[in-house]
Amino acid sequence: MSQATNQSWGGRFSEPTDAFVARFTASVNFDQRLAPQDIRGSIAHATMLARVGVLTDDERDAIINGLNEIQGEIERGEFNWSVPLEDVHMNIEARLTEKIGITGKKLHTGRSRNDQVATDIRLFMRDEIDVIEVELKRLREGMIELADREAETIMPGFTHLQTAQPVTFGHHILAWQEMLARDHERLLDCRKRVNVMPLGAAALAGTTYPIDRHVTAELLGFDRPTENSLDAVSDRDFAIEFTSFASILLMHLSRMSEELVLWTSAQFNFIDLPDRFCTGSSIMPQKKNPDVPELVRGKTGRVYGHLMSLLTLMKSQPLAYNKDNQEDKEPLFDAVDTVRDCLKAFADMVPAIEPKKASMYEAARRGFSTATDLADYLVRKGVAFRDAHEIVGQSVAYGLKSEKDLSEMSLDELKQFSDTIEQDVFEVLTLEGSVAARNHIGGTAPNQVRAAAQRAREALSALKAGA
Ligand code: ARG
Repeated sequence: MSQATNQSWGGRFSEPTDAFVARFTASVNFDQRLAPQDIRGSIAHATMLARVGVLTDDERDAIINGLNEIQGEIERGEFNWSVPLEDVHMNIEARLTEKIGITGKKLHTGRSRNDQVATDIRLFMRDEIDVIEVELKRLREGMIELADREAETIMPGFTHLQTAQPVTFGHHILAWQEMLARDHERLLDCRKRVNVMPLGAAALAGTTYPIDRHVTAELLGFDRPTENSLDAVSDRDFAIEFTSFASILLMHLSRMSEELVLWTSAQFNFIDLPDRFCTGSSIMPQKKNPDVPELVRGKTGRVYGHLMSLLTLMKSQPLAYNKDNQEDKEPLFDAVDTVRDCLKAFADMVPAIEPKKASMYEAARRGFSTATDLADYLVRKGVAFRDAHEIVGQSVAYGLKSEKDLSEMSLDELKQFSDTIEQDVFEVLTLEGSVAARNHIGGTAPNQVRAAAQRAREALSALKAGA
C-alpha cells in the first residue's frame, strides 16, 4: 500500500487520492464541531463492547482514557486537525491510535462512520435543542410578564395596517406569546424523533458482533435504538424537521421584528427600545436604528434557505448512506446558531420594551377605532346591523370633516344620525369601554389579558416540570 493512501481504507487502492479530491471530499474543517459528541459516542461504544466481551476491560479503559485526553487537547486548542484524515471521526481515531497504540484500532469494531456520524448529529441536535429551549422559555416568560404589566395599556389594533379597533398592548404581546407556544411544542416534538440511536446500524446492515444496542442507547441517554439499520444511517428527516421548526419560528420572529421596527419609527412612535439594542448612523447624527429586530428579520431568509438545502439534499436519495449527507452539517450548524442567537436577542430585548402609552392611546383615539362599538350599541337598541353600519358611516364622515373622534361629539351631534342614540353611548365610545367590553376568553379586556397571562405562565411551568 502506498504511503500516501488513506490509512483507514487505503488497503484496496493502488494510487493515492488526488490532492484536490482529498480536499474536496474532506469535511473536517466543519465537522470538527462534532468532536464532543463523537467522543461521547465512542466512549459509550467501547463501554458496551467491553460489556459484551468484544473488548477486554483494560482495552476499554485505555480507549476511554485516551479519548478523554483527546477531548482535553481539543478544548485547549492543541489538537492538530488533518485534512488528509478527512473527517472528525478519523482524526480522533488516528490520534487515539497514536496515543495508545494498537488498541486504538479496536474502537471501530462493530461500527461504521455511517452510524457514527448519524449518532453524532443526533447527539449534537439534542444538546442544541436543549440550549435553544432555555432561550425560548426565557423569551416566553419575558413576554408573559410584559403582557401582564401592560394589560390595561391601550393601543390601536390593525387590520390591513389600518386602525381597526382598540386593543390592549398586553393582548398584542400575548398574541406573540401564543405563536411561540406552538413553536415550543414543535421543538419538543422534534426532540422526540431526534433522540433515537442509530449506533449499531454499522455501515448499513448491522454488524456480526454480539452488540447490545440497548446498553449503548442508555449510556448515551437515547430513548431507544432505531428500528431499521438502512433507515438509521441514511435519513436526515430529523434535521429537516428541526430546520422546519426553525423556519416557522423565524417567520414568527420576523413578524414581531417588523412590528418593533414600525413601532420605534417616529411615524408610529409606540415604543422605545433601550439604546443598547440599537445603533447609530455614521452620517446622520439624529438616527437610532432598530438593528436587532431588523437583523432577526433578515436572518429569517438564511434559515428558510437551510430548510430548502436539506429537503433538496435528501430528495431522491436511494438507501442507504450516500456521501451527499455530508452536506447536512453546514446548513444545520448555521440554523442552530441563528435560532439560538435570534432567541437570545429577543429574550434580552422584549422585557426592555418601553411602551409610549400616551402616544399609543392617541393613535387609537384618532382612528375612529370605536366605530364598531357604536354599531353594536345601535344593534342592541333594536337597529338592524346594516342600518347601524350606515349610521356609523355617516357619523365617521362627519367626524372626518369636523376633525372629531366619535367620543368627542356631543349627544346632539350624534343624534343627527340616529334618534336611538342616548347618553349611555359614551360608555361604549371610550377606548376603555371598548376594550373592557370584549370580555370573554381570548378577548382583549384587561382582566382577560391578566387571566390569559396567568394561564400561559402555568402552561409554561407545567412544560418545565414535564421536561
Ligand atoms: N464525513 C462523513 C459524513 O459527514 C462521515 C461518514 C462517511 N462515510 C463514508 N462511508 N464515507 O457523512
